[in-house]
Amino acid sequence: MANPSQALGLLCDFIRFPSVSTDPSRASQVAACAHWLAAHLQSIGLSSEVHPTPGHPVVVGRNAHVAGRPTVLIYGHYDVQPEDPVGLWQSPPFEPQIRDGILFARGSADNKGQIFAHIQGVAQTLAAQGTLPVNLIFLIEGEEEIGSPNLESFLQAHREALRCDIIAVSDTSMVAPGVPTLTYGLRGIAAMEVRVKGPTMDLHSGIYGGAVRNPAVVLAQLLGSLHGKDGRVLVDGFYEKVLPLEVWEREAWAQVPFGEKEIEAITGAAAVGGEAEYTALERIWGRPTAEVNGIGGGFQGEGTKTIIPKEAFAKLTFRLVPDQAPEVILAAAERHLRAVCPPGVTLEVVPGHSGEPYVSDPHSAHGKAAQQALARVFPGRSVALTREGGSIPIVNTFQRVLGVETLLLGLALPDCRAHAPNENFPVANFEAGIRLNQTLLEELAKVTVP
Ligand code: BES
Ligand code: ZN
Repeated sequence: MANPSQALGLLCDFIRFPSVSTDPSRASQVAACAHWLAAHLQSIGLSSEVHPTPGHPVVVGRNAHVAGRPTVLIYGHYDVQPEDPVGLWQSPPFEPQIRDGILFARGSADNKGQIFAHIQGVAQTLAAQGTLPVNLIFLIEGEEEIGSPNLESFLQAHREALRCDIIAVSDTSMVAPGVPTLTYGLRGIAAMEVRVKGPTMDLHSGIYGGAVRNPAVVLAQLLGSLHGKDGRVLVDGFYEKVLPLEVWEREAWAQVPFGEKEIEAITGAAAVGGEAEYTALERIWGRPTAEVNGIGGGFQGEGTKTIIPKEAFAKLTFRLVPDQAPEVILAAAERHLRAVCPPGVTLEVVPGHSGEPYVSDPHSAHGKAAQQALARVFPGRSVALTREGGSIPIVNTFQRVLGVETLLLGLALPDCRAHAPNENFPVANFEAGIRLNQTLLEELAKVTVP
């Protein structure tokens, strides 16, 4: 059986694979990580399989199922985001380092440390008791960070084998250190790339400037047209399907020990802003946004180069809340951009990945069991009920395709720097996650749903 330091050592082995799903040159590393994971699941006493997909493989593990017991599916992902800009890391991204009780590495929080806490919880229960209190399925994919393009068809194809009563996911955050958190909602997402094309080549801006429309200027106009001064999105119909926040959730969120001060301290942003009639948490958890994730085009080198660039582009994502639908929002955004776009350039709008928002009832029988498990692991602290601003699109698909709800039991901290340099995960949270897995399975074993 893995003792605490062995468990941490194994997590470090898991993290050393640079399983960056978006980078085709890393595909063999992603596959190697999947095989290592499957072998590890076998080594702790589960059966496991690596399922190829048109993209990166899916790893499935299970114990011997016993009729009459509830079946719990634990989902996670072994793929990670790119490590760039690599120069800003204090230690190499794929060489895990522990400093002051905090593990630093790409994937330490999102999601290797969190899913591995569940695996170690299961390993330790099996080692101590020889059995688990529930039928268990691990479903660990390698494409979450690129929008899970192959997981829905995998769910459809393996619907029977994946039949379960409840799903648990640790891929979100605790609201603050030591505050047990049950997340019952996630924002959806809809991505698009916008390309503004002008002359067939970069032009001398002295020779042609004033007569030929500049694609970079047009792009700036288009992007600038997306928001009003008050932060509201100006796309026609954008808010049409947005459900208002419930009174109970606004009250519950007002108690959460996290707000503008903390956001400013963590992010270094000079001031927190947004829709005036909402608090910062409400804006992040319960309101939709339009974000520009990247802009390119024209001269990027040192000094000046007097050109009209031939083209400019931007990558956009919209974060969505119930009941907004990604395809409706993408169509509305495209209509908006085309209406604003002046003549003299061509506008290309290319839709990207998308995922529906998710919301569930934290007071369901399974929700109460999860709250009980959290309360046992963090005694004396009341459980925060939250939604989150990030997206795990497959969680909505679980609801739609398998008809099963998901409990989101986040273990990362708000300053975990997910997707950024110096991503980190406290060793104490990893250890709490191991205990949480054990108590969660005990509590879920007691739930009887008619
Ligand atoms: N773990 C995150 C999702 C998350 C982060 C949920 C913070 C709640 C709070 C996940 O790995 C992720 O980054 N998802 C992407 C989804 C996208 C690539 C389709 C996201 O939210 O940007
Ligand atoms: Zn992520």
